[in-house]
Amino acid sequence: MTKKIFVTGSVMPEVEQRLRAGYDVTFHGSDIPPSADELISAAQGMDGLVVYPNTPMNAEVIARLPDSVRIIACHAVGVDNVDLDAAQAKGVTVTNTPEVLDAATAEVAILLMLGAARRASEGERLIRRGDWKSWRVDFMVGTEITGRRLGIIGMGNIGRLVARRARAFDMEVHYFNRRPLPADKAEGAIYHETLDSLLGVSDVLSLNCPLTAETRHLLNRERIAKLPKGAIVVNTARGPVIDDDALIEALKSGHVAAAGLDVFEGEPKLNPAYLGLENTFLLPHIGSATVKTRTAMGLRVLENLDAFFAGQEPPHRMA
Ligand code: DGY
Repeated sequence: MTKKIFVTGSVMPEVEQRLRAGYDVTFHGSDIPPSADELISAAQGMDGLVVYPNTPMNAEVIARLPDSVRIIACHAVGVDNVDLDAAQAKGVTVTNTPEVLDAATAEVAILLMLGAARRASEGERLIRRGDWKSWRVDFMVGTEITGRRLGIIGMGNIGRLVARRARAFDMEVHYFNRRPLPADKAEGAIYHETLDSLLGVSDVLSLNCPLTAETRHLLNRERIAKLPKGAIVVNTARGPVIDDDALIEALKSGHVAAAGLDVFEGEPKLNPAYLGLENTFLLPHIGSATVKTRTAMGLRVLENLDAFFAGQEPPHRMA
């Protein structure tokens, strides 16, 4: 029998076509994710769900899912929105979409570094307001990333691609990870055994780690204080890796010169203090937002669903 799938958001056209060809699909039909009650009601009789990072699949929601739902296929690499232990306990498979978004996300990390360091957003706002009146030697002066030390927290696939791209700017790459990478993967990047040691050399700090209980508010007041004065902070990982109040304080004092942020705690409702600061370069969680990448992510969702319902091991199982 054709398997029934509920999708809590939307997919790219090619993916929709393939999904409809193989499954009996229902789309949530709104950009606002379903509430827990809406989700539970829509999940009745479904065999699988396709969910996005903005769909909270906590233990309570998972417990309430009908037994017909056997798989939660995340349309994302980050699965912090899903309680994996609860899914496992209920015997529900969880999958994700790794690798295909690495390059797109690494590009945005570089964009954030450049945008924050060179005051791109501030300059653009100034022009649009009609406030570009003259030229002076210290007009809109920022900092360069060329030749600076880049600290990467989380040297997984995305972190490593950020490192490669940063080398084109002659950046010296340092990283902190659970364990050092083999030389062929580190490609010359310098491993730090402690986070504090990494922070001390991070003229530019890039967050590329998953959000877990350990990394929630990892970049807090004490750790920000360990960054060199005038550091740049960029985040393409997950908003809650940063303690917003602490970063905002550091942006106001100038200890952190600028921040480039693509993800936010509570997004899309970000801490409003970020909006009032000139030294923030803000993007609306577009790390993986290219036609090529979003299509590839959707196709990866399909690979997982197809394998699972064919009784095979889904290629990207997280639980
Ligand atoms: C991911 O895949 O985790 C991205 O953040 C979604 O765009």
